[in-house]
Amino acid sequence: MKADFTRQLLAWFARHGRHDLPWQQDVTTYRVWISEIMLQQTQVNTVIPYFHRFTGRFPELYALAAAELDEVLHLWTGLGYYARARNLHRAAQVIRRESNGLLPVEIEALMALPGIGRSTAGAILSISHNLPHAILDGKVKSVLTRYHAIYGWPGDRNIEKQLWQLAARYTCADQAADYSQAIMDLGATVCRRSRPLCESCPLQGGCQARKQDLQTILPQKKPKKSLPVRKVIFAMIENAQGKVLLEKRPPSGIWGGLWSFPECAIDTDVSIWIKNRFGYLIENIQNEPGSRHTFSHFHLDIMPVRAILATVTDAVQEATDLYWYKPAGDERSMGMAAPVKKFIENYFNSPQEAVNEQVGTMYKTGK
Ligand code: ADE
Ligand code: SF4
Repeated sequence: MKADFTRQLLAWFARHGRHDLPWQQDVTTYRVWISEIMLQQTQVNTVIPYFHRFTGRFPELYALAAAELDEVLHLWTGLGYYARARNLHRAAQVIRRESNGLLPVEIEALMALPGIGRSTAGAILSISHNLPHAILDGKVKSVLTRYHAIYGWPGDRNIEKQLWQLAARYTCADQAADYSQAIMDLGATVCRRSRPLCESCPLQGGCQARKQDLQTILPQKKPKKSLPVRKVIFAMIENAQGKVLLEKRPPSGIWGGLWSFPECAIDTDVSIWIKNRFGYLIENIQNEPGSRHTFSHFHLDIMPVRAILATVTDAVQEATDLYWYKPAGDERSMGMAAPVKKFIENYFNSPQEAVNEQVGTMYKTGK
């Protein structure tokens, strides 16, 4: 016997759920895996064009496993949370090596791969193989904490345990794929984080939050702690041909493996630093308006300093972790950290008038 919750949800899904998403066509475990990783921190509408480009370039696992990480990151530029792309690439290589290119169908084996937690593993197996595994992402947590009026932060260990039990209870054995998609669709379109549409909700009859008017209170937020601030200088070094010097970041840490400007500490004399590090003489140097970038554990305040060289040198071109980039249409595909892309657009691509209104904005991004 299905619980009312499950029956009502599935009936709603049949009429109002999403059935024409790109990863719902030509369903393969590989495609569902890619989609679930992209959807981990990103909304469906944003993901769709990225999914098309990614699976167009890498239609199956061997293509992804054989690719250069740089190209994978390039296709990810703008989606954020780049560890997801690095993990996909690494996992593809593990699967090629250890299981003949086929994603495992045992949940524990799937969870052992980089970037796949319990909820993502459950989503992949339920959606691609109709196996009755529970899922519990942020949207599902919202629905369940509201439906049962569960107080406390859903990321808290004890509460999460309770939510997993509920998630498992409602997951149904014979329509696991529909159930997983249904509850995520409900969380995305009806039981939304802010202003849930209770009037159109199939669960309104049994929902405790609705009964007690707790929709705006639940789910409760994580207790806040204030984030530390780190400050860095981005040295935007420009040669006399208008090329800018980029440096590839180390593989781990923030923006790991992405291209960025050479970076130095906030109290550095940048001219001297450039001279010592690269041997270049600076003709003109000026500070530009900075921006703040917020990560899960700290704010990063970036101070861009624009340094123009006296010479046309692009002699480091052969080195692998330094590259003279041509802002107007470089042919090389490179993954770039979001603020780097933005600074290049602001300072090197746009007409001078446009610069002032674009800079100094605050924007948020992922790891
Ligand atoms: N978030 C994570 N997986 C999803 C999916 N399959 N559909 C919609 N949102 C999602
Ligand atoms: Fe969410 Fe409202 Fe539906 Fe309750 S009735 S599950 S709060 S949308």
